[in-house]
Formats: sequence, C-alpha cells, structure tokens
Amino acid sequence: MNDLTQKVQQVFAEKFSATPSIYFSPGRINLIGEHIDYNDGYVLPAAIDKGVYFAIAPNKSDLVNFYAIDFDESFSVKIAEIKKDSSWKNYLLSVVNEFLILKQNIRGFDCVLSGDIPQGSGMSSSAAVEGGLAYALDDIFDCNLDPVTLALLCQRAEHNFPAVNCGIMDQFANMMGKRDHVILLDCKNITHRYFPLQLEGHEIILVNSKVSHSLASSAYNERRRQCEEGLKIIKEATAVQSFRDIATWEDLLPFKDKMGDIVFKRCKYVVQEMKRTVEAADLLQQQKLYEFGQLMYEAHEGLSKLYEVSCAELDFLVEFATQHPAVIGARLMGGGFGGCTINIVHNSLVDEFSSKIKNAYLAKFTIAAEIYRVKTSDGTGKLL
Ligand code: GLA
Repeated sequence: MNDLTQKVQQVFAEKFSATPSIYFSPGRINLIGEHIDYNDGYVLPAAIDKGVYFAIAPNKSDLVNFYAIDFDESFSVKIAEIKKDSSWKNYLLSVVNEFLILKQNIRGFDCVLSGDIPQGSGMSSSAAVEGGLAYALDDIFDCNLDPVTLALLCQRAEHNFPAVNCGIMDQFANMMGKRDHVILLDCKNITHRYFPLQLEGHEIILVNSKVSHSLASSAYNERRRQCEEGLKIIKEATAVQSFRDIATWEDLLPFKDKMGDIVFKRCKYVVQEMKRTVEAADLLQQQKLYEFGQLMYEAHEGLSKLYEVSCAELDFLVEFATQHPAVIGARLMGGGFGGCTINIVHNSLVDEFSSKIKNAYLAKFTIAAEIYRVKTSDGTGKLL
C-alpha cells in the first residue's frame, strides 16, 4: 500500500465513520498531438503513475461532504442544492451535477482526496479529480456506466462549472490508460488503439517550468473559438466538414485573407499537427525514435510560433533540450502557457541532463525547475 492510499484512508477514518472504498485516478502525459483533440485530430497520451487518491463511502444522508487534504479544506452541500462554486470545488461538484443530469440515483457521500500531481503542471490534475470521483460514484451507487461514457461525462463536467472547453484527451487517458502502453485516440470518432511504449534505452522525463498563467483557461477557450471561426470560413466555401478533411496546410491559403493572420496561423498549426501526429504514431510503432523526436521539436515550434501557447520559460527548456546530446525530442506538453515540457532522454544520461537543465533554468529565470521520471499506468480504478 503506498503512502497516499494510507493517507486518504487514515484521514477518512478520523473525519467520517463508514469504511470507505479507495480509488486511484491518474494524471496523463501526451507524447504528441496537442490542441487537436477538440479539432477532430488524433492524440497520443498515456496515463501515468502520478494522480489523485480518493476514499469514498455513501453516508445515508442527502449531504455530500468533501475534504481535500492537500488544501486542508472541506465543504458540504445538499445534493439537491449543488451549483457552481469556485476553484477546485467546481471540478468535483460539476461531476456530481452530471450524474444528476443523467438522472442517476446519486445519494449523499463522504469523500477524502489527496494527490501528487503538481498543480498547473500540464499533467491534468483536473481530469484526475473528475475521473476519480466519477468512477467512484459509478461504483458505490451501482450506476454501471462504461468507462468511455464516464470520460465523456467528465469532459462535460469540465465544460460546465469550471467553464473550460476542453477536448476529450485528458478524461479519456485518465479512464482508459493502460500500463506500458500509449493510446492512439481518434478524437473525431472516439475510437482508440493501444500500442506498447517501447523507448529502447530512453525514458520520459518531464521538466516542470513552475510557471502557470492565470489566464490560461481563457486563452485556451479563445484558441478553440479561433479554430471554429477558421473552420466555419472553409466550410462556407467547400465540402470540408472537419479539419480532418483538409489534406495540407496549403489548402488553407485561399482563405487566408478572410481568416486574418491570427486565425490563419491557428488553422495552419492544427492541420500540420494533425498530420504530424499520425506520422509520429507510425514512427513510434516502428521504433524510429530519432525521427519521432524530430517531430516533437517541430510540434513545439508550431505550438510556440503559430498556436502561441508557449512562453519564454518553456521555449528555453525546449531549446536547452535540443542542444543536449542525450535528448532525442522535447516539446511543451498539455495546454501550454507554463507547466511541463516532455523530453525523451537516454537512460544513461538522465541525471546529467536533469542537473544541467535545472542549473541553466535557475541561472536564466531564478526558478527551480522540477524533474519527474514518469511511468505509464492503468486508467482509474479501485484499489481497495
Ligand atoms: C488541455 C485540455 C485537453 C487538450 C490539451 C492540449 O489539457 O484539457 O483537452 O486540448 O490541453 O492538447
């Protein structure tokens, strides 16, 4: 039993009376395919061994009681009075609300949670919070919703109270992850395939820039709107229904004037990243790691220059990685505007790379970056 399993169990026993069930809900990495889940693209995520642990039990009342160990904060609400609140509470309340919308028979419960995903790191602690609660409620109240239905429920939950118009990648990876595998997820048809993550002497290293921007969620929603605007312009003049129907970014050129510079850049990135991800998934399966890594660098360039979701700190970390002989690919990961870069680093040089990049980053930005060696894991599940 690991520390956090014990911790949520122990704190639950101090605060509540029943014997709880215990669940683990993972964060995720994404190898490539950023900001294209909400544009009908393919993405290549995996669930990881960092996440959120839940202790939950029904309490035979109409009250929902939460205690978040990491914030030392608790709150209670009557199930019939659930409404939008603020900050982290919205992720939990919104999940309960989605069960109510589906008319599932949810009753009162007690819940203690704690996690080890650093906030704002781009490893999707929000999907881990949503997914863990959704899985647990489904289990303790015998709803029998399948995991993909739960992932879609969690995505709607994130759209609703937290008001982030996210794609399906994070919630899907959280629910459907498979240890030692990545998921090739077709976000248009919500179909997926697993393949083994074989990195031949390399490891996935995340470097946390420790910067996060308060406007990240509004900038995220803005990117999504810009893509919709661009697609609408193309749809009006052609038979194209989705970014998937566009063969190359050059096909966007006739629409450049109507789109304007910014929307054009966003659409160019989307079309390029969609092709890149399909190619990258092929390369990874053939274990052509060097070529795969080159596509990661290209993806970062696009995220930085065309999609404009990077920042000076992330650009610096990727640039440093590019120069380091042990690294075969690096890019920002997740929504951007801070959080982590994902790096594929040769096993034998992980320590050397970690200390060099930390020192260089500290010297440049006076920020102590954090380094994580992550492993893939199964999706959300019951531990005890
Ligand atoms: C966030 C969102 C995802 C996805 C990524 C960017 O993590 O929740 O749906 O759009 O950003 O790829």
